[in-house]
Amino acid sequence: MNDSIIKTIGVAFAICLVCSLIVSSAAVSLRDLQKENKLNDRRIKILKVADIYKSEQPIAEQFKQLESKFIDFNTGKVFDEYQNLNIDEYDQIAVTKDPNLSIKIDASEDIAIIKNRENIGKIYLLRDNKKNIDKIILPIRGYGLWGTLYGYISLEEDFNTVSGIEFYEHKETPGLGAEVDNPKWKSSWKGKKIYQNDQVALKVIKGKVEMDDNQASYKIDGLSGATITSRGVSNMVEYWFGESGYSMLLKELDYES
Ligand SMILES: Cc1cc2nc3c(=O)[nH]c(=O)nc-3n(C[C@H](O)[C@H](O)[C@H](O)COP(=O)(O)O)c2cc1C
Repeated sequence: MNDSIIKTIGVAFAICLVCSLIVSSAAVSLRDLQKENKLNDRRIKILKVADIYKSEQPIAEQFKQLESKFIDFNTGKVFDEYQNLNIDEYDQIAVTKDPNLSIKIDASEDIAIIKNRENIGKIYLLRDNKKNIDKIILPIRGYGLWGTLYGYISLEEDFNTVSGIEFYEHKETPGLGAEVDNPKWKSSWKGKKIYQNDQVALKVIKGKVEMDDNQASYKIDGLSGATITSRGVSNMVEYWFGESGYSMLLKELDYES
């Protein structure tokens, strides 16, 4: 009775059960590895934006060169510790879903279209031999055309000159908005200035920056065919270096140094 219907269903069921066990155990056993890879990917971007990444060295070792700090966006103050939070595990994007840990941004002020901003952020410092701040690495995010772009921007010790920019996640189109990852475009940010007369001035323009433009320090070439992504990047710079972003922190640090 090998061709009985019950037997066929039984065999099919057994195969399905075995396969689902294999798939689910693989998913569970790979979860930690996936988490670690994601963390490493983020760390590589941070090391790259700080211009200290060495592909041949272990990431965790290299990352020790950086100091992770909490920042209270409402005061601009920096903390080594905040309540019972573990700084390595603190996820400032995840907390934006909790109204007790974030603020809802009024639509008229939400130029980066991020909806909510965490009360407590996380930043990174790179110090020189004399223990002075050499670079500060700040997370930024904002909406492009297809979704939110997540990245980091680093500033030199004057807290105004850009030293680098990197994005670790976005949904922009390859060849168009995804040119935010183009090394040549990213390197064009180096040396540009964020603030002019205390106002955020740096913008991604439409077209190319003219060599003889006396405002060239505040302008980045637009991504061709991707005006919307370019505008999104400008907007995120304007938001994150404004009053609700890092401006208080940067004034505070400038004052201390
Ligand atoms: C399939 C497709 C994908 C696109 N992806 C992007 C994108 O990632 N970023 C962007 O700004 N524009 C993208 N665009 C173009 C926008 O719709 C829009 O035309 C463009 O931003 C205008 O830029 P321009 O003035 O430089 O031509 C895409 C268009 C199409 C048809």
